[in-house]
Amino acid sequence: MSKDIYIHGTEPSEQERLAGLNRLTNATFISFLDLRPGSRVLEVGSGLGLLAVDVANAAPDVQVVGVEVSAAQIAAAPAHQRVTYVQGDAHTLECPDGAFDLVYARYLLEHVVDPQRVVREMRRVTKAGGRVGVCENDVSLLRFDPPCPAFDRAWKVFTDFQATLGGDGLIGRRLFRLFRAAGFDEVELSVQPEIHWYGAPGYVAWVHNVIGNLESARNGMLAAGVIGEAELNAGVAELERLKTDTTGSATFVWNRAMARR
Ligand SMILES: C[S@@+](CC[C@H](N)C(=O)[O-])C[C@H]1O[C@@H](n2cnc3c(N)ncnc32)[C@H](O)[C@@H]1O
Repeated sequence: MSKDIYIHGTEPSEQERLAGLNRLTNATFISFLDLRPGSRVLEVGSGLGLLAVDVANAAPDVQVVGVEVSAAQIAAAPAHQRVTYVQGDAHTLECPDGAFDLVYARYLLEHVVDPQRVVREMRRVTKAGGRVGVCENDVSLLRFDPPCPAFDRAWKVFTDFQATLGGDGLIGRRLFRLFRAAGFDEVELSVQPEIHWYGAPGYVAWVHNVIGNLESARNGMLAAGVIGEAELNAGVAELERLKTDTTGSATFVWNRAMARR
């Protein structure tokens, strides 16, 4: 089940992009989790562990277990007294039923072969009355102004390429359905906005993150012949120019779901 379909890889440049994305998005995501002191928490697909550490620090005595398929990601994760990393597959969590007060995943479901099975597993390991939260991508919601047509073309290729690998960059729109089919009755949807404009603190970092997404799949897309180098470079160059365009702005929302077991 742990077939490697992860489009971004674990190169140092990609780990730096993911760390930058954590700096931009962790505080808002942690408010969404609404952590209670003493909670036992599981992060599924814990990546570099940066979010897990922030979650452990968000309330007193929170204990976090991070399950992550990649040994390279775990090796790069920071040590923390109340965070444990386990190498494993989100589809088959090696945890007893009802072990956690809160189980969450962020930026994971788009990268797994069977997201429905993963949400079911997340529900299984959550105790009765506990919560399951996710935050996911729908890459079609990404907008830049002034328009970036070469980027838009490359982004569409990137989205389609992820689908050919077996992922789903549009999965954010399906969260309610996935949660209902997993057996949850109480599900609440929300969004986490990314609204950035020239001169605002997160603007350059956000545009840089989007470029990093394309770059992480550069070799794969070129090898598969789904895009030419000139076309890809033109898309990247447009966003590089947007970073210094004094009229530039970017809008996006992450899709979130929170359910009670
Ligand atoms: C985009 S990163 C997100 C990491 C972290 N959740 C965060 O928000 O920063 C997705 C992570 O999921 C991991 N992953 C992908 N498929 C997985 C699976 N089947 N089981 C566990 N982890 C998986 C990848 O190796 C990667 O580290």
